[in-house]
Amino acid sequence: MSTAKKDVKRVTVHTLHAMKQNKEKISMLTAYDYSMARILDAAGTDVLLVGDSASNVMAGHETTLPITLDQMIYHASSVIRAVKRSLVIVDLPFGTYQGDSKKALNSAIRIMKESGAHAVKLEGGSEVSDSIKRILKAGVPVMGHLGLMPQSIYKFGTYTVRAKEEAEAAKLLEDAKMLQDIGCFGMVLEKIPAKLAKQVSLSVDIPTIGIGAGPDTDGQVLVTHDLLGITKDFHPRFLRRYLELFDSIKGAVEHYIEDVKSNDFPNEKEQY
Ligand code: KIV
Repeated sequence: MSTAKKDVKRVTVHTLHAMKQNKEKISMLTAYDYSMARILDAAGTDVLLVGDSASNVMAGHETTLPITLDQMIYHASSVIRAVKRSLVIVDLPFGTYQGDSKKALNSAIRIMKESGAHAVKLEGGSEVSDSIKRILKAGVPVMGHLGLMPQSIYKFGTYTVRAKEEAEAAKLLEDAKMLQDIGCFGMVLEKIPAKLAKQVSLSVDIPTIGIGAGPDTDGQVLVTHDLLGITKDFHPRFLRRYLELFDSIKGAVEHYIEDVKSNDFPNEKEQY
């Protein structure tokens, strides 16, 4: 093992638990490839999520439903090769864990064995509790995901805020406690009212990571390509853009094309 790897204190699921107890916020970002994961890890991101949003961001699909287990494993192993410190969590894709706990276990085991990831995440509450329990029994850490669950988009109909109504909010709170009680190490809360996210975060001892869920969750997650402005036409209220990389990259590439066409590139110093 290299000294660099030895010196770095890796983030584990226990680190996240301690961070919640110490009221230290957890930073989480999506990563799908080696080069970006190296940057995010070097910057000190606590958790990298190999999200099934790769289906949208990397492959251009309209939803997260088409991405396969093999494709998730490919993305996850690229990320794992880049990481020295961050905890790497991988989404179980649609159709690999719902309604069949044995299949869920096999999917989780394939991710852990073939990519070297540290944990898995899956969407849903009581409907998927058998799958979660079986994966946990095999020693694989599981993160839950409640609120807006993009794999259920055709059931929801829209990507708008979830759990605004009392009944859905009560079920979400119950599911959050259940996720904790069966042994999940944390959960994502996506696009729910800030007040409810705060209530959930205070009701459970495991860390909550919010996206569009206000400031009172134990951590925040964003899709990296949204934060960097690589995805162009996506402006939900919860998103803060830190760069406008689509325009910067486009400008740089236009400059390169100009230089090629005008014979400015390569110059005398850029040849052998
Ligand atoms: O797939 C994903 O990127 C996610 C985050 C939005 C939490 O699940």
